[in-house]
Amino acid sequence: MSKKENSIISGNIFLIGFMGCGKSTVSDYLCREYHMEKIEMDEQIEKDEGKTIPQIFEENGEEYFRELETALLKGFENRKNTVVSCGGGTAMRECNVQEMKKHGKIVLLAAAPETVYERVRHTTNRPLLKGNMNVEYIASLMEKRNPKYEAAADLIIVTDHKTAAEISAEILENIQKEI
Ligand code: S3P
Repeated sequence: MSKKENSIISGNIFLIGFMGCGKSTVSDYLCREYHMEKIEMDEQIEKDEGKTIPQIFEENGEEYFRELETALLKGFENRKNTVVSCGGGTAMRECNVQEMKKHGKIVLLAAAPETVYERVRHTTNRPLLKGNMNVEYIASLMEKRNPKYEAAADLIIVTDHKTAAEISAEILENIQKEI
């Protein structure tokens, strides 16, 4: 059986985890190689609002952005075979986690603060890291968030030093048993 045939799933996969943990890269890969549909939550919100994420934070505030995330998740009722790349803060709200659980499996992509830093250090599109672009801040925010990420996850994949292909294969091997 080919890789693609072997890996088609009927349910949805929600990728959660800290900024720079690989959610977008892995969702791109799953979409391309395994013929899954893809929703990148940040991109969808930017499109719907006609503004970038930094603009939304700046002009409307973080709470407004968080409401947009919740509203977007609530619209996933009839989705199938879709990989959703969540924002790094999406799993912090219990109502979002419940919504994701209704519609699919939640996969936490984990990475060390140093790995995250290397991946995000040259980016400017994350308001929470503006003025905080250093390993210490990343490590402290990650530590605060980890209990909620871990409680939400059906599956945890450590992504340090792994390619998108390896991570995707690992997700599908493990998630297929459950979906
Ligand atoms: C956020 C992560 C970002 C984006 C927003 C807030 C967070 O998404 O949703 O800047 O709270 O961690 P990525 O995880 O895709 O960078």
